[in-house]
Amino acid sequence: MAAAGERRQLLGAAVVLALVLASDAVFVEDLDESFKENRKDDIWLVDFYAPWCGHCKKLEPVWNEVGIEMKNMGSPVKVGKMDATSFSSIASEFGVRGYPTIKLLKGDLAYNYRGPRTKDDIIEFANRVAGPLIRPLPSQLLFEHVQKRHRVLFVYVGGESPLKEKYIEVASELIVYTYFFSASEDVLPEYVTLPELPAVVVFKDGTYFVYDEYEDGDLSSWINRERFQGYLNVDGFTLYELGDTGKLVAIAVIDDKNSSVEHTRLKSIIQEVARDYRDHFHRDFQFGHMDGNDYINSLLMDDLTIPTIVVLNTSNQQYFLPDRHIENTEDMVKFINNILDGTAEAQGGDGVLQRIKRIIYDAKSTVVSVFKSSPLLGCFLFGLPLGVISIMCYGIYTADTDGGIDENEATKKENGNRELTDEGSEEEREEEKKEKYAELSDGELKQKSILEKKKD
Ligand SMILES: *[C@@H]1O[C@H](CO)[C@@H](O)[C@H](O)[C@H]1NC(C)=O
Ligand SMILES: *[C@@H]1O[C@H](CO)[C@@H](O)[C@H](O)[C@H]1NC(C)=O
Repeated sequence: MAAAGERRQLLGAAVVLALVLASDAVFVEDLDESFKENRKDDIWLVDFYAPWCGHCKKLEPVWNEVGIEMKNMGSPVKVGKMDATSFSSIASEFGVRGYPTIKLLKGDLAYNYRGPRTKDDIIEFANRVAGPLIRPLPSQLLFEHVQKRHRVLFVYVGGESPLKEKYIEVASELIVYTYFFSASEDVLPEYVTLPELPAVVVFKDGTYFVYDEYEDGDLSSWINRERFQGYLNVDGFTLYELGDTGKLVAIAVIDDKNSSVEHTRLKSIIQEVARDYRDHFHRDFQFGHMDGNDYINSLLMDDLTIPTIVVLNTSNQQYFLPDRHIENTEDMVKFINNILDGTAEAQGGDGVLQRIKRIIYDAKSTVVSVFKSSPLLGCFLFGLPLGVISIMCYGIYTADTDGGIDENEATKKENGNRELTDEGSEEEREEEKKEKYAELSDGELKQKSILEKKKD
């Protein structure tokens, strides 16, 4: 029985392997120099990889699945991959600086993907960016349908206007993050009243908000601020994304599985503040909760015990802790006001001392994680003086790369399109580090990206 089962499994695996090998040739095109000439008429989703890079190898099976599914869906998007080390001049023309880099190339525009590297997320991205910039919602039924599927929904309401041109322009840049719709006023739900037409409206948090040029500043930064729900379940990746908004992030750090009053209370306090004080705080604050304190502790290099509340400044890496127990919404509002008027004491930051602390902290956690995953390797690596020297080199190396931010700035504006941060090159460095030490968890990776990114 067992043997037969095993054999069947083996056979299954062989079939899958054969399929993958065959499909690899068909569904994911291996690109070379000719790509530059031949790509013009098509939309391409390309994985720029390096043969030696571990993250690229991890992406490969996912990429094949993406290729298969896009083909099966009849998507007009072609899926390819390019060895960016063999065709480095083309890769650098496309602004590839780290591996793997995923880009969607559409005419003159190149859109970077930097979300989670899963099949569904990548495909969703490709469909969104490759599709029409502005999707019309011609009927109430369609509007309701779309509203159910999108927790944050941007809609342009009205006819041709300078505002619409602006909306299209912003969409061509921010389509990497969210969808853009348009509708006529009679398609909107009845509870919506617009002060004037044309208007840009965002539907979220069970209500809607209308863009006001005078109060909200330019449309692009308004959309960037509003593309999150008022209250979020925050994880490392969300935090990384929130870095773009420059907002302060107020989170309850709790244990989601702990149903004791203490945990649920902090969460509902933050929820209440997010809802009831939106007009006061939403310009400067994002609210949410985070499950567990591992991530936040390694980000802040602190030792917070849950449940607690912490407010992070995403633009300078400082953070604030309440100096007394937060019992109710009023306490929280008072705490926020203290932060805004400067009476709350900031901790952390991105100063020199913090950077040194980060180097030591990282070295320490690398050693710990090596020992945890493989004690023998740990002894071998770190028992030798060589180990110590490598840590020091690693420290100096990290300190050096911390300074290399101007390059980001320069390449950001490429193709008249927003180049997202160089998460890739960060990973490239990670890669080298990894060869010497051990696997860092994804969490740590993301967290480093947050730190790098803030300096942009
Ligand atoms: C839940 O949280 C409380 C207060 O922090 C703590 O005392 C308790 O041990 C936790 N319970 C569980 C099951 O983790
Ligand atoms: C957050 O950081 C920015 C950039 O350093 C600073 O201008 C701002 O005042 C900080 N906010 C608070 C509340 O400390």
